[in-house]
Amino acid sequence: MKPIIITVDGWSSCGKSTMARQLARELSYVFIDSGAMYRAITLFFIRHQVDLNDPQSIVAALSKIQLAFHLNPINGNNEIWMNGENVEASIREMSVAQMVSQVAAIKEVRAFAVAQQQQIGSNKGIVMDGRDIGTAVFPEAELKIFMTASIPVRVQRRYQELLPKHPQITMEEVKENLENRDYLDSTRSISPLRKAEDAMVLDNSHLTQEEQLALALSWAREKINH
Ligand code: CDP
Repeated sequence: MKPIIITVDGWSSCGKSTMARQLARELSYVFIDSGAMYRAITLFFIRHQVDLNDPQSIVAALSKIQLAFHLNPINGNNEIWMNGENVEASIREMSVAQMVSQVAAIKEVRAFAVAQQQQIGSNKGIVMDGRDIGTAVFPEAELKIFMTASIPVRVQRRYQELLPKHPQITMEEVKENLENRDYLDSTRSISPLRKAEDAMVLDNSHLTQEEQLALALSWAREKINH
């Protein structure tokens, strides 16, 4: 059976990665969290105090960044490494979340990340989640899913996710970050977040993880079998 490309785009914190990871597992496909790449680049920029208004510094910094995804044998997840360091946990910090959408709007950063995403997907058999995967990275993908959920549901989910490591975090802070990123991601000039015309919409506000996976799997199997 011919492998296909499945793209999962959508708003911040609507469970794209969870669904995309499970879908890839069911199909024995590779799962790539493209947002992790923008987060890792942001982490590097924070650590090295890169001036976001200076294209030369940005290009110089990007030339020093090596990104790779490696399977973690303990949890079975494909985790992101930057310059030989597993940064999967560090990139989820609030400091990164607060800057990532600004970094992801930079032309040089997008060119750097998109080229690597296209290379990773060149053999197909991949599920990639992000903001512009169905519109800019793989416009020819066989199945495109656009995920969404209501704001209160998304805030609650991300709050629960962050709380164990950040007991001081407030719902208001999480909501502000989420709305701010949605605004920046959907209004930037290069590859803004939008639904591809041929994308299937999956609103999971009232779906369990099992229900959303079953729906996505049925769409995937239909595309794979035809
Ligand atoms: O927090 P959440 O899982 O919703 O976001 P993420 O997938 O980790 O992505 C973090 C940020 O990276 C987004 O808010 C976007 O600014 C940026 N991003 C992007 O511009 N293009 C992508 N394909 C993926 C992420």
